[in-house]
Amino acid sequence: MFRGLMAEPEDVQRLEEAVKQKPLPRHIGIIMDGNGRWAELRGMPRVQGHREGSNSVREVTRCARRIGIEALTLYAFSSQNWSRPAEEVAALMDLLREYLEKERAEIMDHGIRLNAIGDVEKLPKFVREPLDRLREESSKNTGMWLTLALSYGGREEIVRATRDVAEKVQKGELRPEAIDERVFGQHLWTHGLPELDLVIRSSGERRISNFLLWQAAYAEFVFTDTLWPELRAEEFLRCVSQYQNRERRFGLTGAQLRNQKVSGAQGAS
Ligand code: FPP
Repeated sequence: MFRGLMAEPEDVQRLEEAVKQKPLPRHIGIIMDGNGRWAELRGMPRVQGHREGSNSVREVTRCARRIGIEALTLYAFSSQNWSRPAEEVAALMDLLREYLEKERAEIMDHGIRLNAIGDVEKLPKFVREPLDRLREESSKNTGMWLTLALSYGGREEIVRATRDVAEKVQKGELRPEAIDERVFGQHLWTHGLPELDLVIRSSGERRISNFLLWQAAYAEFVFTDTLWPELRAEEFLRCVSQYQNRERRFGLTGAQLRNQKVSGAQGAS
């Protein structure tokens, strides 16, 4: 009964064991969409959807850490979300603060490194302060990177990086010929994180919505119809399993990839 909604712990355990048998994505990004619709469908205020959505954040983060994902990046608040009704923005900020306070022990106990990308200076002080504290406090941890994209936009990130690079050229610190993908990537907010392998988007929408535009160049996309407040460990693991069944070609042909695997295996033996 209610199998789609309430995963049996054994199902989750079984799925976890199965995904751990195959190469895992190193870095997963999630566009957590559908909170508002989840609430509206139940005749509740939208903020209730965000509240339930933060329970999914907790569950999915736990699961990602358990299976050994190196980096998880969550699109929690976009640059464009500032234009939402003031009371929704205020409620989201309250939720973020609550999350940072409540999750502190969980983050520290599990060696998670909390990180944030985006124009975080724009966040109110009552969010920025606990965020900075926990980033600092968790900076020596060595476990999974948990990055919150806050006041984040992919285009804004690229423009900002371009400006930084241009300034270095102007000051004579960088030669234009030395600018390549690696150097440019060092100026992005995600510098230091592993390559993005998988982007998951909930709620049936099939868009990138200004999320990790540069980083998603070779990422796999998994779209699920599930609304974010209902996306829990079981569904997350199914998304990872879909990724594991894809063939990632990076511009090569299938035959080239198979040859590479054979010569790689021969080289290893
Ligand atoms: C998109 O759903 C979701 C957001 C704009 C906010 C995401 C926030 C959370 C999941 C909770 C707080 C975050 C953390 C890290 C504790 P939507 O409101 O656009 O949904 P809709 O498309 O159905 O209206």
